[in-house]
Amino acid sequence: MAIDQYIPTATPLKSGTILDIGGSKLENATHQALTNVLAKATTTGTPITLPDEMLYDSTGHELWSQIIYHPDYYQTRDEISLLDSNGDDIASYINPGAVMLDIGAGDTRKVAHLLRKIDARGIDATYVALDISEESLARNLKPLTQSLRHICCIGLWGSFSDGMAWFTRHDALVNILNPLANYTKHGTSSMAGAVAAARTSVTPEPPQRVLLSLGSVLCNDAWARAVSHLEAWARTLTEPDDFILAGMDGHDQLPAHREKLWAAYHFDADETEEGTMVASSSSSSFSSSDDLFSQFWCNGFTHANRLLGANVFRPEEWAVRGAVVPLMDIPRGLSGGACHRFIFTYTGVAAAAAAARHGDSAGLHLAAGQTMDWFDAHKYGPELVREMCGEAGLVVEREWKAGQDSCFYQYLFRSYGSGSARGNM
Ligand SMILES: C[S@@+](CC[C@H](N)C(=O)[O-])C[C@H]1O[C@@H](n2cnc3c(N)ncnc32)[C@H](O)[C@@H]1O
Repeated sequence: MAIDQYIPTATPLKSGTILDIGGSKLENATHQALTNVLAKATTTGTPITLPDEMLYDSTGHELWSQIIYHPDYYQTRDEISLLDSNGDDIASYINPGAVMLDIGAGDTRKVAHLLRKIDARGIDATYVALDISEESLARNLKPLTQSLRHICCIGLWGSFSDGMAWFTRHDALVNILNPLANYTKHGTSSMAGAVAAARTSVTPEPPQRVLLSLGSVLCNDAWARAVSHLEAWARTLTEPDDFILAGMDGHDQLPAHREKLWAAYHFDADETEEGTMVASSSSSSFSSSDDLFSQFWCNGFTHANRLLGANVFRPEEWAVRGAVVPLMDIPRGLSGGACHRFIFTYTGVAAAAAAARHGDSAGLHLAAGQTMDWFDAHKYGPELVREMCGEAGLVVEREWKAGQDSCFYQYLFRSYGSGSARGNM
């Protein structure tokens, strides 16, 4: 599979092409983010959060694919069943020629359920998978390109911010338009010639932009941060037909959802841990357990050490504890909101030893007792999602629920700024 630098092209890109929109510079950016976090720990000793990006190298992706298909990780099963039951309805919102950008595409097995529905309707559109892992993109685009007849699949290797900048660029979208597409905003009769016209025209009509956020990529943050991310993505929607399709885990009622949430993040929870779970947290030794999440963290530590060029993060020096907690930062007058946290505590004896291991990394070190969060999972039900959208300049036009026993939702958001949502108010 070709990995092309992002250069405007005169000819249509082949399905399966991967464009480097910043991916090759990501390790530097992630290293910088990690060093900043460690500097904060060194100077303030306050709790820190490690960048999630460290979790998703090639091995991390393989582990993540196993985690999400574990029977207790209900989110994947629920989202797939939602897409299978409602995919036709969702697909009816996709126009010919649409460009669907999947942010944090991952292994794409889930989105494939939706893409097949769109493909079966004969809609010639373009699916664009954005991810920080080039290997994951290469591995996962292949089966899609082989199985979809109408949808052209392109990979974007880069970060969310690279993807956001790319998505706002009209010329970038025109470059990757599906050559088969009936490329008009309202699906009238012009065919491939319209694409050619769009490529050469000075001001071609913009294709429908659809942002896909599966697996709670959007909204899954502390309130203010989630709103600000949504707000930024909302600004990329410029036309009335543009929209965001966002899957969000709404198991946010405590104590009702506590047990289900816990089980999804602690596959090997034994009796003792379940007993402690009632009190909402449990400790386990990081290195003694070989469950998938532990392997995921260990791999993240290895990645961090690789970036730092020193053996700073040693699994045996950390204790990890899970906690299901209510969210305290939701707007007044609203209820719900839950979070599963993994809390790591540094149990290493000597900060100096850590500093020494850190070698030339500007004297950064970890003090005994230092805590950090990694991989928080925020849960917001429909009422909170609607409020969050309102603050971000979006309106929830449709919502689909996974089934009677599940509070996993898929939402269709429109932007006030793009002209359609305002009219629907
Ligand atoms: C929780 S997984 C979700 C995957 C997929 N959407 C799903 O539902 O299965 C998050 C994905 O986002 C990607 N990712 C993490 N940080 C990213 C960033 N800063 N920019 C782009 N992608 C990122 C990861 O590589 C991973 O594939």
